Amino acid sequence: MRFGVFAAVTVGFAVLAAPALAEGDAKKGAKVFRKCKACHVVEEEKNKVGPHLVGIIDRPVASIEGFKYSKAMVEFGSDDKVWDVETLTVYLKKPKDLVKKTSMAFAGVRKDADIENLLAYLQDPSAAD
Ligand code: HEC
Repeated sequence: MRFGVFAAVTVGFAVLAAPALAEGDAKKGAKVFRKCKACHVVEEEKNKVGPHLVGIIDRPVASIEGFKYSKAMVEFGSDDKVWDVETLTVYLKKPKDLVKKTSMAFAGVRKDADIENLLAYLQDPSAAD
């Protein structure tokens, strides 16, 4: 289900219905996370090509000390933005649509259901064990 389709078209911004995290399936999300694993870990605070994703839901954008973010990502986070569910949903769908010059070389997750499951997993990786 989607809300705000008109608004989304008007502002040219994918305002999808905020996925209810409880509805996402963390086990399925763990599979989707395979797409991210070359560059990210979520179970320990260790940066790889990308910053670790521990506690990413509602974490301030570009906030991991010692990780060298792109200028684009630093600017994107400069107004104290956090990675809430809506922002993550838009970003993961097509990262470069939201943060044009991000150094995250990843096209995006096509299916909304995959994103919803992925977010459930990121919120609580242990739920997939
Ligand atoms: C090819 C490597 C690569 C892949 C694959 C990748 N990322 Fe990233 N990711 C990065 C890099 C590099 C950054 C830092 C981007 C910047 O500074 O512009 C990043 C940044 C992020 C951020 C912002 C973190 C912060 O601290 O602000 C999130 C969230 C994120 N990635 C999630 C994901 C998810 C979820 C996936 C899988 C669906 C994924 N990424 C796939 C490399 C990758």
